[in-house]
Amino acid sequence: MQADLDKILIDRERIAARVAELASRISRDLDELPAEGEIVLVSILTGSIIFVADLIRQLPQKLRIEMVNVNSFPDKATRSQGASLIGPPAIDVAGKHVLIVDDILDSGGTLTLIRKELHERNARSVRACVLLRKQRPSAMETPCEYVGFDIPDVFVVGYGLDYNNYYRNLPDIGTLRPEAM
Ligand code: IMP
Ligand code: MG
Repeated sequence: MQADLDKILIDRERIAARVAELASRISRDLDELPAEGEIVLVSILTGSIIFVADLIRQLPQKLRIEMVNVNSFPDKATRSQGASLIGPPAIDVAGKHVLIVDDILDSGGTLTLIRKELHERNARSVRACVLLRKQRPSAMETPCEYVGFDIPDVFVVGYGLDYNNYYRNLPDIGTLRPEAM
């Protein structure tokens, strides 16, 4: 599986160091929120699972975790086919402070969709955190409060990110060899 990687873009040590920095910034900001209003972290399945697992263990605040499923990359697609919510989140966010966590910001469709949903459900505040952001206009123009790394506009896998649902378990983030796709 490791042999299917073409190039490692961000290795596990850099990921860990950056996740720690993000967690301390987020944590500071959460402490500054008005006392009323619970904190809910909304994890976007499936790509964010590893990032969320590492991030939340560095957030000492009392918070709840909800998962929502958005599908924009069916099967072997490597470009978003338009974000759609699979099973609307049966979550109660009214009056709550929400932190959306996703693996990567690409077309921006996913974050835009989820933000709209959460506002419609009367969230008290909504912020978003992504580990990666692709350097393409649609991504750079999508509001996102916390960004781990800006990367070139290439398709990447590992640390939760998949191709055709494989490679999520790679500890580093990298590009795939053309033969593997
Ligand atoms: P967006 O809605 O186009 O911003 O895409 C966000 C979602 O697409 C992410 O949650 C990922 O699941 C997926 N995605 C975007 N780019 C990549 C990539 O390079 N590798 C793997 N998944 C990606
Ligand atoms: Mg995803």
